[in-house]
Parts: sequence; C-alpha cells; structure tokens
Amino acid sequence: MKHSPWGKSAELATIWTSLDTCMGVQYCLMSKEQKLTESGTVIPLPTPRPRLTYSRDGVPPLEQAGEYPELRYMGSKRRLLPWIHDVLAPLDFEAALDPFCGSGCVGYLMKCMGKRVVATDFLNFPATLAKATIENNRQQLDGPAIKTLLRLTRKRSPGFVERTYSGIFYTPEDLRFIDRVSLNINELEDEHQQSLARSALIRSCLKRQPRGVFTVSGDLSKYDDGRRDLRLSIEEHFLEQIEVFNGVVFDNHKRNFARRGDVFSSRPDNVDLVYLDPPYVPRSDDNCYIKRYHFLEGLSCYWEGLEIDESTKVKKIPKRYTPFSYRRTAIEAFDRMFKRFRNQKIVLSYSSNGFPDLEVLVELMSRHKGKVTTHRRPHRYHFGTHSRVARAMVEEYLVVGE
Ligand SMILES: C[S@@+](CC[C@H](N)C(=O)[O-])C[C@H]1O[C@@H](n2cnc3c(N)ncnc32)[C@H](O)[C@@H]1O
Repeated sequence: MKHSPWGKSAELATIWTSLDTCMGVQYCLMSKEQKLTESGTVIPLPTPRPRLTYSRDGVPPLEQAGEYPELRYMGSKRRLLPWIHDVLAPLDFEAALDPFCGSGCVGYLMKCMGKRVVATDFLNFPATLAKATIENNRQQLDGPAIKTLLRLTRKRSPGFVERTYSGIFYTPEDLRFIDRVSLNINELEDEHQQSLARSALIRSCLKRQPRGVFTVSGDLSKYDDGRRDLRLSIEEHFLEQIEVFNGVVFDNHKRNFARRGDVFSSRPDNVDLVYLDPPYVPRSDDNCYIKRYHFLEGLSCYWEGLEIDESTKVKKIPKRYTPFSYRRTAIEAFDRMFKRFRNQKIVLSYSSNGFPDLEVLVELMSRHKGKVTTHRRPHRYHFGTHSRVARAMVEEYLVVGE
C-alpha cells in the first residue's frame, strides 16, 4: 500500500504519486529519515518540500485576485478589479504586458484569469512584488527558509538601516530586524523565495508606517489611533506577511515574467494585450512615487547602487524622471506609447483628475487603433488625508483600443 506523508493535501498527494509513477516503484515511508523500499531494497527518498498549494484550478479569477495583499499604493486599482475584470474578460488575448505594474494587483488578476503575464515597472519594489506573486508559480517560504531569514547574526556594529534611519523611522529594534532579515535574504538560494521574503518585509514596513508613506518622520505619535498595525513590531508583521504572501503563490501553468524596466524599453512582441496604467499629471499636488516610497525602493535592493540625499530629513533617494508626470511631456509620451503598442490590444486606465483630458487621449489612441471604446465609472480614492477626500472623488475610465 502507498503512503503519502502529506495525507491531507490532494495537491501534494498528486506530486507524490507522480514521483512514484515516474520512478516506477512502490513507496513506503519507513522512518524519520524517510526511506523508500522496493522489493526489500532501501533507497534514500528525495525530500519533498512541504508546499501548501500550487494550483487553484477551478477557483473563480476574481475570488482568487481578491486575496492579493492590499498595499495602499498610490493609484492602485485594487478596488476596481471587478470592473477591470469585466472589461478584460470579453477581450480575446492569451498574454498580457502590465508595464506600470505598481502594487501588482492587475497583473495578478490577469494571472488568475489564466493569462501569461509580463509585469514591469521602472521602480524596483513593484517589480519585486510582481516577481514574488506573478512570475513565481511555485516557491513558498517553508520552514528551512524562514529559519534562515530569522537567523541571528554575530555582528555587533549597527547595520546600514539602523545607522541611516535611527530617529527617522521605526524603533531601534525594528531597524535592527530590517538589517538582519535583509542580509539573511541573500542566503536564500532561490530567487523567488528571495522576492517573497522582500515582499513580506516591504509590506511589514508599509503597515508599520503611519499613513503608509515615508514623507513623515520622527515622533509620529499624533498619527497613532490605536491601530493594531502600529502596535506590532516589524518582526511580528513579517511573520504574518510571510503567510500572506505564501498564500497567494499559485501556478497558472504559464511562464509569467517580472522585472524592473521603463515602459519604453519593454518588448511587446510576445503579448497580444497591454494594460496601461501610467501616473497622471496631477491637477495639483504631485504624484512622485519616490517621495512617498523611497524607503521601500531602497529596501527592495538594500540601497545597493542608490545614493542617499543626506540633505533631506527623511534620507531620500533621487526622484526618477517619467514623462507622464509633466504637462509639457505627457501628450507626446502617450502618443509614443500608443504607437509602440499599435500591434497589441490596449486597455488604458485613466481618470478624470488627470491631464490630458479624456478627449485628447481618445484622439491620440485613435491615431494608432481602428476602434476605441471608453468605459466609465465613478470612483473614490482613499489615498490622502480627510481634508482631501472630496478631491479624491473621480470618474475612472478604461479606454480600450482594438
Ligand atoms: C498608477 S501606478 C500603477 C498602479 C497599478 N496599476 C496598481 O493597480 O497598483 C503607476 C506606476 O507607473 C510606474 N511608472 C511611472 N513611470 C514609468 C515609466 N516610464 N516606465 C515604467 N513604469 C513607470 C510607477 O512607478 C507606478 O508604479
């Protein structure tokens, strides 16, 4: 009789059985060391890694996409996913590019819809999130990986994060933990496990930071409204986030891909649809991602190759230029982008509070596409303080070019 060490999990039982079949022998679990017998011969058993789940075949895409971690990312379309899903579903496509992937939720939705997804962003931390959740079909952080991540180091001198951000963000214990885990991540051999661990750390830091942005520093007690997220240490968050990110790993049986890159260097040759969600030129304020998330961008590569502007109170890194953020360059940038993707179906997310106006965008897209359709819906962004909520009421558009 065959025994599966993973009695409860049908998935793992399947893996076990296929291993059995492929080796053409009968297994029997003998001891802790796990030995395999075949007609009396004892053969060392390959140790299967305890994974929770790979495949969610049969789970409705939206239900699955709803499990994607909320990141309070500026411009995130997470709450619009059901609407985006309904617009995407009737379109005929196999593979999609999401070159402004941000929090990663739309790319993940398309993965849940069974598409092959290429997700990129010109910032490194969104690309890291996408690598962990979209490109990664199989790896989770298992017991040995977690042990490696939490390993204590003998080093006594303060690490980079503790030296740089003391008195600016977090407690000394939090900063020491960030240094320790960041160094331990490099000890993981698998790149997807590394990106999962970085993603868990990124979301831990985001949750622990009042308002989820890194523009404010020092004594932040006035923001403390008793929220659990502000009570937990980064270490406690991290352990929770490992579970959260492990929980969204699944195999959609496609070779998905994520990397850091500018939209104008992405190659659309192998995709038949692009989902475009660039930043908008704001009517007021500014839309700089580095200003808000510089700490996460640095954290995603442990500030390697980044220069800190020591003159800034919160130790920022330099802003990244994007033509979509300026009135004088945005229109030309949209035109160039639509031209670049003229051979793909285009789905553009846009909003009534952006520049240029919708009419201008539709005209620009019509230069490169035969049929342009606009879908609309009212939306309220939760980003910003209470006094700004009124300004955050907008009409959202999905402009589809075929
Ligand atoms: C509105 S957000 C995307 C939000 C995302 N769809 C979501 O739901 O979370 C815009 C993203 O574009 C990225 N970005 C800005 N300019 C870019 C460029 N030239 N190339 C690639 N990414 C860029 C920003 O880093 C940001 O993550």
